[in-house]
Amino acid sequence: MRRLKLAPSILDADFMCLGGQIKDIEISGAEYIHADIMDGHFVPNISFGLPIIKSIRPVTDLVIDAHLMIENPQRFVADFAQAGADIINVHLEACDPGLVLKDIKANGKKAGLTIKPATPADKVIPFIDELDLVLIMSVEPGFGNQKLIPESLRKAHILADYVEKHGLGLDIEMDGGINLSNVHEVIRSGVNVIVVGSSIFGSDDPKTAVRAFMDIFNSYSIN
Ligand code: DX5
Ligand code: ZN
Repeated sequence: MRRLKLAPSILDADFMCLGGQIKDIEISGAEYIHADIMDGHFVPNISFGLPIIKSIRPVTDLVIDAHLMIENPQRFVADFAQAGADIINVHLEACDPGLVLKDIKANGKKAGLTIKPATPADKVIPFIDELDLVLIMSVEPGFGNQKLIPESLRKAHILADYVEKHGLGLDIEMDGGINLSNVHEVIRSGVNVIVVGSSIFGSDDPKTAVRAFMDIFNSYSIN
């Protein structure tokens, strides 16, 4: 089993003390910060953009995993690379992946291709050699605090089987509606990078929540 990594989404964080919130998840064992960038066009919501990435970069060593829920993301690949994103995830439905993924690599960053719930898993196969990860949305993109769509687990199984069969090293990430009770079935579907927003930053104590997820992840690596 590939190493399990936790990617807390800061969409639900308290932006009045974002630095402290990031420190909290860092000391509790998270490996990524999942940054949900929304433009109000590709998704019916606006979140935050480059200034936030620029301001968190110097204060953390965590992997900044930028999830671009924006139209024509190729316009901003260089800007997000410059701002400090380590991984740049673009939506297959928002661009010509062939061009954009090359651009992400040319900017020295890891390339992720993201699919909405209605997009079949096999749509990413033509691009798989360019990818460092596939991000499977388990909710409709645009908002935190939604329910996980069970069909997403089947898509993860399909991709995990393909990756296994072809001996590929890419990560499979899942994003949306993941909590302490459904995380086991997410892991069993073959996902190894797990995005959690409201179940961490919407909880009473993000540190405790992160540690609870990390305890579950560690229980898989011991067995
Ligand atoms: C939704 C975002 C997700 C979301 C996750 O468009 O991509 O990252 O914030 O939040 P929860 O875990 O609350 O579903
Ligand atoms: Zn996301």
